[in-house]
Amino acid sequence: MINRVFIFDTTLRDGEQSPGVSLNMAQKIEIGRALVDLGVDVIEAGFPVASPGDFEAVRTLSRELKGVEIAALARANAKDIETAWEALREAEHPRIHTFIATSDIHLEYKLRKSREEVLRLAEEAVRLACKFTSNVEFSAEDATRSDREYLAQVVITVARAGARVINIPDTVGYTVPHEYHSLIAFLVERLREAGFGEALESGDLRLSVHCHNDLGLAVANSVAALLAGARQVECTVNGIGERAGNAAMEEIVMILKTRADFFREKLGTALDTGIRTQRIVPTSQLVSRLTGMFVQPNKAIVGANAFAHESGIHQHGVIAHRLTYEIMDRESVGWSGSAIVLGKHSGRHAVDYKLKSLGWKLSRQALSRVFERFRAEIKDVLRRIPDEYLEGILYDEFLADRYRYRVISAQVSSLYGTSLRPIAQVEVEDREEGRRIAMAVGVGSVDAAFKAVARALGYIFGEEEGKGEKLRLVDFHIDALGRGTEAEGVCGVILEDVSGRRTAGLGRDGDIVAAGIKALVNALNRLEASREKGEDLRRQLAREAEEEQKVEEARPMCR
Ligand code: KIV
Ligand code: ZN
Repeated sequence: MINRVFIFDTTLRDGEQSPGVSLNMAQKIEIGRALVDLGVDVIEAGFPVASPGDFEAVRTLSRELKGVEIAALARANAKDIETAWEALREAEHPRIHTFIATSDIHLEYKLRKSREEVLRLAEEAVRLACKFTSNVEFSAEDATRSDREYLAQVVITVARAGARVINIPDTVGYTVPHEYHSLIAFLVERLREAGFGEALESGDLRLSVHCHNDLGLAVANSVAALLAGARQVECTVNGIGERAGNAAMEEIVMILKTRADFFREKLGTALDTGIRTQRIVPTSQLVSRLTGMFVQPNKAIVGANAFAHESGIHQHGVIAHRLTYEIMDRESVGWSGSAIVLGKHSGRHAVDYKLKSLGWKLSRQALSRVFERFRAEIKDVLRRIPDEYLEGILYDEFLADRYRYRVISAQVSSLYGTSLRPIAQVEVEDREEGRRIAMAVGVGSVDAAFKAVARALGYIFGEEEGKGEKLRLVDFHIDALGRGTEAEGVCGVILEDVSGRRTAGLGRDGDIVAAGIKALVNALNRLEASREKGEDLRRQLAREAEEEQKVEEARPMCR
């Protein structure tokens, strides 16, 4: 049997059926183009008879997308199939995908038809579709809850009628890997007995799988079916889809790639797809942004934590050798940046590694000072420590006595039940320019306070009018340390100047506005310090590290 697995992407059809998802035409085209770049074989663009919008989407994508098959869904009736063809006719490689349910539950309660009638409708649908194109796929909806013998009869009938791909959906996510494997193996056997052995071997006739994730088994079931002889897998980016979703494409592709050894052992050959894996993460992020469907951080392959190492032991291992805790190369699926994430479980090795990657070389003693401050100040406060915070700790440790700004006092109003806006008044000290007072009005009290502090120190935020050096507030968050209204507020801010230089600041106080002011002034001090003294500090610390190294290298010779 061929070793190529065809990827049938249904993000724009089954994926778009996810509750709350509705894509406009421009978004569908953007996703369609990304899927072509990703290297999928088939894009199911919609269900043309379902709505004028779906019809238009299939027609537009058929015109726009080249080098890929475009499929349109149609129930097993003439109107659906003719409408599907109408929408598809301009596609470079059109495919009609017709379906009808085969389980007794669907026959009795939904279709109100006998098995014989459904068998006849399936055959007629395929024959009609074949009049428009030789590329016809048939799906036996709810196949996994259908009577096996009857399902085999339907499968053989549609193969004889001309279907090139026969899909065996687990529509309600009911099956389990062992059972699904045996069902696909059984259908392969029946097709062989019916004379389709050669067609299956050459790939002219393909069995396809389409799994839903109601029991969390969609990917496992799909892989089991591939082991049993299916060669097309229907899936969606990020696993989006009806209810608990469809099988996640990125997971299936990476299972086949990462465990090629296993498939080679079981099948005598690895199974390949045409997916350009480096495009996986960018495509996942695009789909998440356009559909508004958030990707859970611990989602395999594409979740923000999928390649992030935070615990000290794991970080130490990965720094020593990536393969200790990584089974895939993060860059091979399109992640960039470092896999080492600093958090409350991180150890010295990780802090050292991170500082090195930011261009800082520290002696053992200097590293200890930074690490102790990291532990004391940040570890229990922030859940994740972005690079900007780590550099900030370093400035606090070595340059704080030379920081330029200080807030002497602040008064900030907080309003409720009025259309008036809060006002902040602050008095600050700038070592170089002396004391200054400034006032500002804001949307809320934190906003007013930030504007007043920035104004007093000669800065200005984002779109604000007025004089001052422009700054962008990249991140702002407040957390409570503890429970209840007396909990301490912890505020973190990240600022960016016009040259793109970023610094972070942290502030803690029983009053959340005061925590915000402290964080802002801390970030401004670090910004100034990094500009004025950052390079000197970098050189000085590197010199100390080199001296320490020389002493250590000399030590064995002294003994
Ligand atoms: O889940 C399903 O059965 C489907 C078919 C229409 C293929 O989406
Ligand atoms: Zn489905």
